[in-house]
Amino acid sequence: MSVHKEVKRITTNTLQEMKAHGEKIAMLTAYDYSMAAIVDEAGMDIILVGDSASNVMAGHETTLPITLDQMIYHASSVVRAAKRALVVVDLPFGSYQGNSKEALNSAIRIMKESGAHSVKMEGGVEISESVTRILTAGIPVMGHLGLTPQSIYKFGTYTVRAKHEAEAQKLREDALKLQELGCFAIVLEKIPASLAKEVSESLNIPTIGIGAGQHCDGQVLVIHDMLGINKSFKPRFLRQYASLSEVMNGAIKNYVNDIKSKSFPNEKEQY
Ligand code: KIV
Repeated sequence: MSVHKEVKRITTNTLQEMKAHGEKIAMLTAYDYSMAAIVDEAGMDIILVGDSASNVMAGHETTLPITLDQMIYHASSVVRAAKRALVVVDLPFGSYQGNSKEALNSAIRIMKESGAHSVKMEGGVEISESVTRILTAGIPVMGHLGLTPQSIYKFGTYTVRAKHEAEAQKLREDALKLQELGCFAIVLEKIPASLAKEVSESLNIPTIGIGAGQHCDGQVLVIHDMLGINKSFKPRFLRQYASLSEVMNGAIKNYVNDIKSKSFPNEKEQY
C-alpha cells in the first residue's frame, strides 16, 4: 500500500470558495526552485512569480527592465517546486500594453514554457481588451490595481494611491470591470484600508492586499522583504518575520574566518 499522500492543488475555484467561507488567502512571491519549495511546503495558497524579481533578484531600481524570457525562466523554476500552491506569473512591462494579440502571445508563452497556472496584469479598463483575449484562451487572469509599479514613471512616487475621490472612483470602476471580464482575483496595492474594504465587500472575487489593510480577502508580500533579506526596504505595511540578512552575514563571515584560520575543512571533512 502506498503511503504517499496526494497533495490537493489550490485552484482559482478554491480561492473563490475561501472568499465565500471567509478564509483568508496567503500569497507570497518566489522566483527560484529552492525558495519556492520552502514556501509551498509552508502551506502558501498562491505563489506569485512577481516582476519584483527585477528588483530583488536582478538589482534594478524598477520592475520595468525584466523581460518575458527572464520571467519565464523564474516561473519555470518555481513551477517545478510548487506541489500545492497556485502559481501566478506577472506579465512584465511591455509584454501586454501594446495590443491584445501581443498580450495573448505573451500569456501563452508563460503558460506553455513555464507550466504556470495563471498570469497577473497591472491596470483596469485600459487593458480590458487584452484581459478578455487572454481569458478567452482559457488562461486565468489576476488583476492588479492601486499602486501599479510598472507605471512608476507616470505616478512619480511609490506613495499611497487613490487617496482622492476621483482616483478612488476610477479604482472602484476598474475593480468591477475586471470582475465582469472574468478575472479570478485582484491585487490591491498601497491604497487606503477603507477603500480596500469597500472594494473587497463589493466584489464576489477575492482581493489580495499589499499595504491595503486587513479587510482584503488575502495578503501578499515580497519574500525578500518579509524575511529581512532586503534590509533597506521598510515601509509601514511590511511585517518582517525574520532578519535573514543578519543570519546569512554571520554564517558567511564564519565561513570566511574558518578558511582563513585553516580550520575548514578539518580531517573529518575530507576524503
Ligand atoms: O511583483 C510583485 O511582487 C507584485 C506584488 C508586490 C504584488 O506584484
